Amino acid sequence: MSKLWGGRFTKETNKLVEEFTASISFDQKLALQDIEGSLAHVQMLGECEIIPVEDVEKIKQGLLDIKQMVLAGELEFSVEHEDIHMNIEKQLIDLIGPVGGKLHTGRSRNDQVATDMHLYLKGKTEELIGLVEAVQSALLAQAKENVETLIPGYTHLQRAQPVSFAHHLLAYFWMFERDKERLQDSLKRVNWSPLGAGALAGTTFPINRERTAELLGFEKVYPNSMDAVSDRDFIVEFLSIASLLMTHISRLSEELVIWSSQEFQFIELDDSFCTGSSIMPQKKNPDVPELLRAKTGRVYGNLIGLLTVLKGLPLAYNKDMQEDKEGMFDTVETLEGSLKLLAPMMDTMTVKKENMKQAVQQDFSNATDIADYLVTKGIAFREAHEVIGKIVLYAIQEKKYLLDLTMAEYKQFSSLFEEDIFEVLAPEHVMGARKSFGGTSPEQVKVQIGMAEETLT
Ligand code: ARG
Repeated sequence: MSKLWGGRFTKETNKLVEEFTASISFDQKLALQDIEGSLAHVQMLGECEIIPVEDVEKIKQGLLDIKQMVLAGELEFSVEHEDIHMNIEKQLIDLIGPVGGKLHTGRSRNDQVATDMHLYLKGKTEELIGLVEAVQSALLAQAKENVETLIPGYTHLQRAQPVSFAHHLLAYFWMFERDKERLQDSLKRVNWSPLGAGALAGTTFPINRERTAELLGFEKVYPNSMDAVSDRDFIVEFLSIASLLMTHISRLSEELVIWSSQEFQFIELDDSFCTGSSIMPQKKNPDVPELLRAKTGRVYGNLIGLLTVLKGLPLAYNKDMQEDKEGMFDTVETLEGSLKLLAPMMDTMTVKKENMKQAVQQDFSNATDIADYLVTKGIAFREAHEVIGKIVLYAIQEKKYLLDLTMAEYKQFSSLFEEDIFEVLAPEHVMGARKSFGGTSPEQVKVQIGMAEETLT
């Protein structure tokens, strides 16, 4: 019986059971974190005189050798040893002999796996914060080039009021800023050390949990051993932040798809970020933003999956919790891939300023400004709204835009109209007039760019 827990058993494990219960096919991703956790644990065991210092040195050397094997892709994993923890422990014993068996003193796989997951998520969260920042930089760079670029602003996907293209892009900058803040904030909770909680109740050995936390760079120690081994809320939190981040990515992606369509032609994605059709030679498909939009589904799925696994689980550790890993890895990898593509795709897209401007000239998105014009002449807004409604209706019937109507035509609706109405209705003026804080006037957009720059430094 070569299993590390084989002592109590009289029969070999059924092969199907072995395969069904093993997690090594996916938790091998935690190999480096597992070794890091073990190095800290064994160091502490030595310092607390729980095992002799010579043994500590042998175990450490063995672990470092295994780390080299992992880095070189040479460590072979076996389903027979179930998970990453036992695969590494078995390897250690094979490498340095029975002294390797002392590593697991005062520890359980339950606090071990929780430690690995905290270490993994801590590293990945920090990396993802950097990747979100790269997307923000790309958005900011495009915004700086497009402060004066007019684009129709929409509500209900109907032309509403013209806005600066920079303003539109910066809306996403701030969404990503809050996502980043959420990730940063979550680190507070990922930074708790479960190590030393044992199987669930703590350990009889005089361990020092503060010391292992310190060695691993954790800020805090879980004060309750049962909580430490059964809590996965730090993963749920990560998955929910990731879901929101993906929501933002999918909205931006959808805009890129729309804007690059023949109907809009507001932007063109770089050839290197598009693919062709196997049958229609003229096509250039925005596959990347389409997939970014779609991958949101699996990220939401991973969140719901873990919430469902945890719901109603009694304390403390249950094997159910092994199901926390694949969804988390998948979400991390999906985000890494998505963010890494989004930044250069935004950087390399061509903004078709002329087309955007033309679009703005061919709509009624300056209508609010005639109403505001009449209000400045003393009419109540509601009344002015009514007058403009009639003007718009008249213009539609005449197949004209508001700037095409003559002074005489305007006068038919109100004697208050004067020549300056044509200035007021120019799209540049309409955009420039929205000078309230956070508004779309180039003046305000520049203020916003200053704030964005400050945020990134
Ligand atoms: N592979 C297990 C997991 O991922 C490790 C913890 C196993 N603990 C246990 N008591 N069987 O959850």
